[in-house]
Formats: sequence, C-alpha cells, structure tokens
Amino acid sequence: AKEQGWVLSYLYLYQGFWQPSRQLQGVLTCQNHFNARNTDIILATTPKSGTTWLKASLYALVNRASQSPRGLDHPLLKSSPHDLVPFLELKVYVDHQVPDLTTLPSPRVFSTHLPFGSLPISMRETGCKIVYLCRDPKDTCISLWHFANKLRPQHKGKISLEEAFDKFCRGVSLNGPFWDHVLEYWKHSLENPGKIFFLKYEDLKEKPIFHLKRLAEFCACPFSKKEENQGVAEDILKLCSFDNLSNLEVNKNGKLSSGEENRSFFRKGDVGDWINYFSPSMIERMDKITREKFKGTTTKKATLR
Ligand code: A3P
Repeated sequence: AKEQGWVLSYLYLYQGFWQPSRQLQGVLTCQNHFNARNTDIILATTPKSGTTWLKASLYALVNRASQSPRGLDHPLLKSSPHDLVPFLELKVYVDHQVPDLTTLPSPRVFSTHLPFGSLPISMRETGCKIVYLCRDPKDTCISLWHFANKLRPQHKGKISLEEAFDKFCRGVSLNGPFWDHVLEYWKHSLENPGKIFFLKYEDLKEKPIFHLKRLAEFCACPFSKKEENQGVAEDILKLCSFDNLSNLEVNKNGKLSSGEENRSFFRKGDVGDWINYFSPSMIERMDKITREKFKGTTTKKATLR
C-alpha cells in the first residue's frame, strides 16, 4: 500500500507500518547488516516523542566517566544529539551503505524509529538493551504536524492540521500507526523488563531525576554515592534541558547530513500543547482511538494510559 506522505515522498506500508519511500532501502540494509553487541544501547522512539532529548541524555549518561557533563568541551555543546547518537535506518545505513561499526567502542548507542517487529534480528536476540520513549498521542501529533510543515518545500504549501490529524488517526504517519508502535514495545517491555526500558515523555518531564537514575541502572551504569553527592545526575539534566540545548549555536544554526535543520527538533518542549490546537471533535476522535487501542494496558505494575 502507498499513501501520500506529510512532507514530500510517499509512505509505504512495510511490515505493518508506514515508512517514507526514501528511507525504505536504509531500513532493509539495517535489517540485513546490523550486528548488535550485548553492550549496545538502542533508543527506540515514535517520531516527535522527545528523541532528541533522550539521545542527549543517554549520550551524557553513558559517557559521563570520560566526559564530565559540566565540562566546557562536552561534545553536546558542539554537536547535534542526532550526530552523537545516529539513527540506524536514517543515518548509519543510508540506501545500500554498510559502514564498519566494529571499531566503535562499547557501549555503542544508536537510535531507531523502527517498530519492534522490524528491528534487526540480532537486536532482538542478543543481550543489547532497548530504551523506548513514547509520548501522549495528541502532543506527538501536534509536534509532527509542526515538524512536517517546517520540512515542506515552499511550493507545496502547508499541510493543514485537519489533514495531518486525519492521517495520524488513520495510522498514516511516520512509522505509524502510532498506537501499534507503542503497544508492541509496551508488551515486550512487560515480558522482558531487563531488555526493554519503557519510558514516557510526560513521566520524564515530571520526575527527571528519578527516571534518569532508573535509566542509569538499566544501562548498567548506576550513579555512585560520590556522584550523587556531586550532583552528576542534575548536571546531566541541566546540560540536556530544552533551554540549554535549544540555545546552543549548533542546534540553532546547524544542519543534519539528511538535510533537516537542527532547530526543527526544538519547538516548545511542553506537555499538553495540543489543547491550543484541537477542536472538541478532534479530541473525542483521538481519545476514542487511544481508549480502544490501549484497552487492557493497565497492569499491577504499570499503566500505559
Ligand atoms: P514539541 O514540538 O512539542 O515542542 P523528537 O526529538 O522525537 O523529534 O521530538 C521533538 C519534540 O521534543 C519537540 O516537541 C521538541 O520541542 C521536544 N524537545 C526537544 N528537546 C527537548 C528537551 N531537551 N526537553 C524536552 N523536550 C524537548
């Protein structure tokens, strides 16, 4: 199946999820060639769920022994989080390109928007760890709509909120259907919590220190007592905060090799911004889908909704 995408290219239904045509070959190459290591950390996200934020946080977290988050020469001050933690199917495996990743030191940190069922087999079968981040569907949809309009060439004009919303609700969005993407990872995280760490953007916003510490434990680099006393977790949060990252020269003016402007990954960084955009009938339609799709996802230990 094929549908007109939000930006330019077509979206193709591949293994149950919509992929932009220009990325399909990268997805296949990644699936065929990526060899996971037990020490790898893979950040999997739905697009616009805060990937940039968590890329920065993970990078700062796992490299903190050699790169102090307070350091004036920290790589995050000069490089986009997307260059430090590259997307496998968008940056590492572009088209037929198969780079040598064996020389990279452990732990390697990569990211992906691929749904669980499309992950390279080695990722599912080795001990590598997966951190999954998702966000409220209404905020994700609004963020994606703004993002798409920033990327659309002028002659195409803007995509209306109504059209973007309808596509999102029908599942026709980057790596959509959104709800199925989240559900797959959610189910696997319950079955295998040592392998998949499931995190929500809203929770990270509400209790950043708590979740950063949990993340450190999951990634096998817990904060020591000494680090606790020194406030290292707080330093990482400050370094990776929206205000700090979005005001860095590299993120204000730089561009990714794939062409996107770095600043297009920073807009508001708020929870609940959808209230400023959705009509009552839109809210009703999306809430109904979420209720139906996420039915039965409240367990004794955790809730998805
Ligand atoms: P908004 O458009 O709602 O502002 P992604 O990185 O997955 O593309 O997601 C982008 C969204 O995350 C945007 O949301 C962006 O503003 C927000 N974001 C980027 N950096 C952030 C940070 N450091 N803290 C919180 N949110 C951030």
